[in-house]
Amino acid sequence: MVETKTLPNTDDGLRRAAETLRDGGLVAFPTETVYGLGADATNDRAVARIYEAKGRPSFNPLIVHCADLEDVKALVKWNHLAQAAAEAFWPGPLTMVLPLRVDTMISRLVTAGLDTLAVRIPAGDTAQRLLRAFGGPVAAPSANTSGQISPTRAGHVVDDLSGRIEAVVDGGPCTVGVESTILGLAGTPTLLRPGGITLEQLNETLGTRVSERRATDKISAPGQIRSHYAPRARVRLNAAEFEDGEARLGFGDIDCDLNLSKAEDLVEAAANLFEFLHRLDATGAPVIAISPIPHIGLGVAINDRLSRAAADR
Ligand code: TXA
Ligand code: MG
Repeated sequence: MVETKTLPNTDDGLRRAAETLRDGGLVAFPTETVYGLGADATNDRAVARIYEAKGRPSFNPLIVHCADLEDVKALVKWNHLAQAAAEAFWPGPLTMVLPLRVDTMISRLVTAGLDTLAVRIPAGDTAQRLLRAFGGPVAAPSANTSGQISPTRAGHVVDDLSGRIEAVVDGGPCTVGVESTILGLAGTPTLLRPGGITLEQLNETLGTRVSERRATDKISAPGQIRSHYAPRARVRLNAAEFEDGEARLGFGDIDCDLNLSKAEDLVEAAANLFEFLHRLDATGAPVIAISPIPHIGLGVAINDRLSRAAADR
């Protein structure tokens, strides 16, 4: 057991967080998408502790977070599609998978032995300041026990990982609320995980059609494992009506326990998604029933996470 400190996102708090990373410690921090569980990406021991703290069943590859483009280019082989995507969406909720350069110090545990690396420049102000204070690449999966709901508040991280990590930087709620979109650019441009940037946005920016990963394709991102993001309660999707005893998660102008967005705003719904699942799960209700969510824009990422939460375990 380690004592988990909650640090404020002040200059002093971030300086202490960066020091903890330098010492090989685990520091959870907010990005604009979800809270990440950070470690020095060049320190094998620190990265191994991420897997241990999350109880990840195997060494699934992690996303490396950088402060700016120069730092990213030192880690991966760059190409013109990556450049176009970076100009349009970084800093922001997009992760790109690119060939790993051979001359980096990135721990093998980060890539799980693959010859590609997932990289992202987060937009969140706290994340940016922490990355600059640390001054190197930070490996970070979502800061939750493997298979559970991703955290969008410092309190979610404390409830879940307290005693297993050194610190949590409290930067308030995450603004996007679903994980980054993962774009594979090591070969044919491929959408590996829907997220904060939509497929339509990518197609338009890249001027090429990004292929969608088919369900039969080999799993190349564990976020693609069907049962994931799972609350304790059973999850019932596309609930046209709610039944007695169910915790009711609504969308639109309906009567429910918590409403993702009364105004049917998908951006608002994404930002509320994980917090509301956490809250309804905490009521102890056996079932969380959820209104249909339109399958457009950010709704694609929301429905992806919900179908995983509802999958058989
Ligand atoms: O928004 C996010 O992306 C958050 C914040 C903290 O940045 N992070 C996040 O990390 O969602 P995680 O570990 O929960 O999901 C990372 C996904 C996994 O599904 C992993 O398999 C995939 O990225 N991934 C990492 N490296 C990869 C690679 N080289 N090739 C293919 N997929 C990769
Ligand atoms: Mg995750």
